[in-house]
Amino acid sequence: MSDRQDLLGRHVLLGLTGGVACYKAAELTRELTRAGATVQVVMTEAALQFITPVTMQALSGRPVFTSQWDARPANSMAHIELSREADAIVVAPASADFIAQLAQGRAGELLALACLARPAERVPLFVAPAMNREMWAHPATQRNVAQVAADGAVVLGPASGAQACGETGDGRMLEAVELRDALVAHFQPKVLAGRRVLITAGPTFEAIDPVRGITNHSSGKMGFAVARAAAEAGAEVTLVAGPVHLPTPLGVRRLDVCSAQQMHDAVLPLAPTHDVFVATAAVADWRPSQFNEQKIKKDGKKVAPSFELAENPDILAAVARLPAQARPWCVGFAAESHDLVRHAREKLERKGVPLIVGNLGPATFGRDDNTLLLVDAAGERELPHGDKLSLARDLVREIASRITRFPT
Ligand code: C5P
Repeated sequence: MSDRQDLLGRHVLLGLTGGVACYKAAELTRELTRAGATVQVVMTEAALQFITPVTMQALSGRPVFTSQWDARPANSMAHIELSREADAIVVAPASADFIAQLAQGRAGELLALACLARPAERVPLFVAPAMNREMWAHPATQRNVAQVAADGAVVLGPASGAQACGETGDGRMLEAVELRDALVAHFQPKVLAGRRVLITAGPTFEAIDPVRGITNHSSGKMGFAVARAAAEAGAEVTLVAGPVHLPTPLGVRRLDVCSAQQMHDAVLPLAPTHDVFVATAAVADWRPSQFNEQKIKKDGKKVAPSFELAENPDILAAVARLPAQARPWCVGFAAESHDLVRHAREKLERKGVPLIVGNLGPATFGRDDNTLLLVDAAGERELPHGDKLSLARDLVREIASRITRFPT
């Protein structure tokens, strides 16, 4: 994890209700504090059955509140004090019973009281359901969740998978890092709200035979960071990814492809329905012109096999050539080993795009940090060295400021 303090200065009221997933709330507290937030834990009576306030106090560095009759606040109104000092309330885990209480506006315990009493226009409420799959699927729960969302809460998850009860299905609480990232995203400026952004990422793989192929060292990290940053900025994001081993950023629609041709065929029909296209993928320039259906065998041959190469379609140039009304605002990447400015400027001309982002290939492939150089018709500007997500956020802000003259 990077040492970015994405939640510095934010105060989170973390509510725990009854559920096995309370153990994940301990990890969530660590993740939030490591990201710079201060965390005030409030536990319901049922939550106390699953994890102790001692653990939660030790992790948050603050005494836990469990009762509305807690005499610590000077005015004796814990629900008012706690909900007004918070920048966000996160209920994780949120049990079926607690969601039902929220849906009905009940206020029988401190946590429900604080949720009800929060100044809703300033303090968002995040709810991370955690329960058995049958409880989640029950029409009563679905009704309550829909009501809670309609009343303005943000419902995060649940995920699907193995459950503590031994069953498998929907109802697992999201992981601590996913909840942290949802909160981080909430606090990012919404500079791309209402925009649709299409992104390519990763390498492509050009098959020679069923077991071999031509590819490159691109990890996809930069493109995935751009996708995450665009989603955090409020955009609807489609990510077309080559073969990489990276988790899909929260809220991003992902399409997996393998070859350059497949990437091209996925991107071209999508391009006209997007406002921005960011081509970060390291697309192979050539592919073997023939695919061998069977593995090419050595079989004692002395002469190495040779094969012809065919040129791959240039995806970025193809999108940039679409008619004006079908063409998104295009951003290309240039990974070079030397003469970055000259090559990036050449690419700007050749591809016919308004912005090229240059970086040095060997200094970026597979790494978590990078330095970017923005090259457009007006000149060059360096985005200082940083982790890829911070750079992606800077790039997203640059893109947003350049497209403001285009109506949504
Ligand atoms: O000069 P080069 O083709 O390497 O330019 C790189 C830029 O073009 C990147 O944005 C890359 O994603 C894009 N590209 C593409 N399709 C190709 C080759 C490159 O979209 N076949």
